[in-house]
Amino acid sequence: MFALIKQLDNMPKGNGDWTISRELTAWYQTNKRDLPWRDTDDPYIIWVSEIILQQTRVAQGMDYFLRFVSRFPDIASLAAASEEEVLKYWQGLGYYSRARNLRAAACDMAERFGGHFPVHYKEVLSLKGIGEYTAAAVVSFAWNQPYPVVDGNVFRVLSRLFAVDTPIDSTEGKKEFTRLAALLMPPSEARLHNQAIMEFGALQCLPQNPACPTCPLVCKCMAYQAGNVRRYPVKQHKTRTRDRYFHYFHIIYKNYTYLHRRSGKDIWTGLYEFPLIETDAVADFAELQQSEAFRRLFNHAGRLTVAVSHPQTKHVLSHQILYAAFYRIEIEEENEALQSYTRVPTDEIDNYPVSRLIHIYLEKG
Ligand code: ADE
Repeated sequence: MFALIKQLDNMPKGNGDWTISRELTAWYQTNKRDLPWRDTDDPYIIWVSEIILQQTRVAQGMDYFLRFVSRFPDIASLAAASEEEVLKYWQGLGYYSRARNLRAAACDMAERFGGHFPVHYKEVLSLKGIGEYTAAAVVSFAWNQPYPVVDGNVFRVLSRLFAVDTPIDSTEGKKEFTRLAALLMPPSEARLHNQAIMEFGALQCLPQNPACPTCPLVCKCMAYQAGNVRRYPVKQHKTRTRDRYFHYFHIIYKNYTYLHRRSGKDIWTGLYEFPLIETDAVADFAELQQSEAFRRLFNHAGRLTVAVSHPQTKHVLSHQILYAAFYRIEIEEENEALQSYTRVPTDEIDNYPVSRLIHIYLEKG
């Protein structure tokens, strides 16, 4: 009971008491990083940066961001580009649907909004790949519109500050945290406040090692008072990972190799890869040779010369662990199965967008 009263007592009332926001923005002014997307109010540039930063850390995303906006500086250039080229600029960043959606949304803006970024939150939200977080980030950073951002950083800061144990991956949690975020944000300072709370989550209120001893909000932090900061935020589902076994065949015929473009709902849609056999469990080359898929792939290809075989490597994605082996195999005849692949001159492979896994293999040679 006492805890509940204390919690209610600590909650922002939305009555113009912006103490917490003032603490956050004061902290932000002295601690913020100098980041290129903060020097602009161009919604296009802000949008691209937010999409890159959705699943990627600033240090990793920076070069991608700079290269991307240098090649596609505005909606028109992105809408005019091919999906393949856009994917090539994204190569290595992962979550490739982000790149496909960026281009699709740029085309949509060219058609529906005369090539301009829409100003209204609801219109922004209607664009492919833009959810509530990104829409709020764009309209608040670009035009200071009073929409609170609620991303992973904000969930963490708010759940600790007010010791909220509603799971952040529940519908109820999303509602509760959005309401809380809105109450904390002075409407006329949306841009500054939103940047501040996110940066605070990224640099101060860290997931594993929060810097509580130097935190300006430590006296107000209910999780800190209770001694259980690391308990927050609460999640209801643990993410499950799936093991997969990939066997790639880098097939050489004269000066060519063979690629195919992934499609469907699986990982790496739109990216190219070598002919692939996937198995349910570990399988060595002898076992693969016995499989129907192997026979289909190499039937009538003449004598096979296994030039190089790379031992299995482990490649970790967010929800999957891939165990991948690569075999470089020279063949004597181009058989029927290979005709359904894209035949690529060996020295042109680099023009095709590929996953980081394939890229690492190609780099090793
Ligand atoms: N993470 C997500 N958006 C960000 C931004 N605008 N600046 C820094 N980190 C971020």
